[in-house]
Amino acid sequence: MSSLKEVGGYKLGNIIIEGKTKKVYDLPEVPGHCLLLNKDRITAGDGVKAHDMEGKAAISNQTNAKVFEILKATGIKTAFVKIASPTAFISKKCEMVPIEWVTRRLATGSFLKRNPGVPEGFRFTPPKQETFFKDDANHDPQWSEEQIIAAKFKINGLLIEQDEVDYMRKVTILVFEILEKAWALRDCALIDMKIEFGVDSDGNILLADVIDSDSWRLWPSGDKRLMVDKQVYRNLANVTAADLDTVKRNFAWVKDQLDHLKPNIHHKVVVFMGSPADQEHCQKIAKAGRELGLDVDLRITSAHKATEETLHIMQQYEDTHGALVFIAVAGRSNGLGPVLSGNTSYPVINCPPPSDKLVQDIWSSLSVPSGLGCATVIYPDSAALMAAQIIGLQDYLVWARLRVKQLDMATALRAADKKLRNLSV
Ligand SMILES: Nc1ncnc2c1ncn2[C@@H]1O[C@H](COP(=O)(O)OP(=O)(O)O)[C@@H](O)[C@H]1O
Ligand SMILES: [Mg+2]
Repeated sequence: MSSLKEVGGYKLGNIIIEGKTKKVYDLPEVPGHCLLLNKDRITAGDGVKAHDMEGKAAISNQTNAKVFEILKATGIKTAFVKIASPTAFISKKCEMVPIEWVTRRLATGSFLKRNPGVPEGFRFTPPKQETFFKDDANHDPQWSEEQIIAAKFKINGLLIEQDEVDYMRKVTILVFEILEKAWALRDCALIDMKIEFGVDSDGNILLADVIDSDSWRLWPSGDKRLMVDKQVYRNLANVTAADLDTVKRNFAWVKDQLDHLKPNIHHKVVVFMGSPADQEHCQKIAKAGRELGLDVDLRITSAHKATEETLHIMQQYEDTHGALVFIAVAGRSNGLGPVLSGNTSYPVINCPPPSDKLVQDIWSSLSVPSGLGCATVIYPDSAALMAAQIIGLQDYLVWARLRVKQLDMATALRAADKKLRNLSV
């Protein structure tokens, strides 16, 4: 057998591991990274059923890259780095947690066998999370959370305890929810999905391995009969060349659809300030907003001193953006926010700048004339977060960034608590 020396300009080292559908190579010139080379191979039933399928490696490679680009854009911590060649990609080198993390929205497949009486299509809210120990010889047995913790896995120096299991479970569900929302844009129902985690050399838990058409059930229009995932292959009793062609065409269709999963509205968050003196406060709003992926404009205009101009700028934005939020920053008496709010049907958030007189001044933002519905917050981060929540109603990437941020904050608190507990013991 000829041994590969290089792929996509990357010099290959030893094979770290070879599985059913991929080979993982060390990259001696890129420390801490590895190259995953997809095979033209499709397998099912723990590898009992297996066929060569020319072109599958390239389709899987692109599918996986597109999915991971979406997830990276939301802030999920992943091992994926970039595509290296038509059939290979670069990843952070991980020691893998030997668990398959499965999320289900609807009951189907093996869940029905393991849970007799539950009808197919039973909807899980929140999504059902299950874990399976990766062990082909024993058909990947289902493991409880307690079994995972009792195994005391030490992965790249990191002991897998309750905190780590909780983190992976939460990321698993979040990844499912993000991709479910993404696929909804193409009227496709994500039914269930499997992912894996690895730990890098710094002890970070990363979403690793791949997510492609082998990883999920995907039903266009929510109709099982239209399934376009690997289940079509699993269901085949006798596999003909024509069958394999159908499976491959489905996989290629999924890969192409992924190009259309970008949010399809053009949003804008406009921060109006009554005076250039408010710029520092407004820049904080803009920074927090941009970190959440918001497209933020800063404008200076006074509703008291240049009313027509203020309304004109507002109308220009109304004309060009589908999803729009105005943030009004005005010191002393806030005429800006209420005037905007009284003349638009888009949301207005007042965020008065810091001042010794804030306690008096804030009433001009709170006690608005009848017929007005603007909101008021005092911290720049709060204004950006609220704007993101509004835009997130129509833009799943912004929604996802908020969810990832919440998860990161909760995880950081838990880590701080653990450190403190360990100190005081
Ligand atoms: N970033 C990574 N670093 C190291 N190993 C990885 C990484 N991503 C995936 N792997 C591992 O690569 C192996 C090969 O993949 P695959 O062919 O899918 O194997 P399997 O047959 O076990 O599913 C798997 O054991 C998987 O856990
Ligand atoms: Mg695999």
